[in-house]
Amino acid sequence: MPGSFDPVTLGHLDVVRRAAEMFDEVVVAVATNVAKRPLLPAAERVALVAAAVAGLPRVRAAEAPGLLVDFCREVGATAIVKGLRSGGDYDAELPMAWMNRHLGVETVFLPADPAVAHIASSLVKDVARHGGRIDDLVPPGVAAVVRARLAQEGT
Ligand code: PNS
Repeated sequence: MPGSFDPVTLGHLDVVRRAAEMFDEVVVAVATNVAKRPLLPAAERVALVAAAVAGLPRVRAAEAPGLLVDFCREVGATAIVKGLRSGGDYDAELPMAWMNRHLGVETVFLPADPAVAHIASSLVKDVARHGGRIDDLVPPGVAAVVRARLAQEGT
C-alpha cells in the first residue's frame, strides 16, 4: 500500500487494516510523489507509519524511494492497494493504476469507510497550520510530530 503518508492518518490506517484481512502481508510503502513537497522527511513518515501499524499482524512499514513497481518486485508484492474517498481520487488514481498494470503490477481499490472519508493528509496539515485540533484524525503521536514540524517551518 503506497502513499506519501505526510502524515499517516486514521483513513490510511483503516485501509491498511482491511487490506491485512485480504492479503498474506501488507507493506505500507512510503513512496515519492514528485508533485508534492512533503512537510515531514521520509524517515519520519516511515517511523510514524511503523508506529501506527506496530500492533497489526503481518503489516510493516518501509521506504520505497524509486519506481513503485520495482519496490513491489523487491518485496514480492502481487498487488498495489489504494483507498478511494471520492470520484476525484478515482480520477487521479486510475492513470497510475493503468501505468502500474502496464509495468506489471495490478492495483486493488478499497472504498474509504465513510466514517473517515473526510480525512486527507493535506487537510490535516491545513487544519493544524491554522491552529485546529488534528488529534482525532491521526494515529497517536502523529499530531505532536506534525505540530513540531509546522512550528519549525514557521521559524
Ligand atoms: O499519497 P499519494 O501522494 O497520493 O501517493 C502517490 C504515490 C507516492 C503512490 C505515487 O506518486 C507513486 O507511486 N510514486 C512512486 C514513483 C512511481 O512509481 N511513479 C509512477 C506511478 S504510475
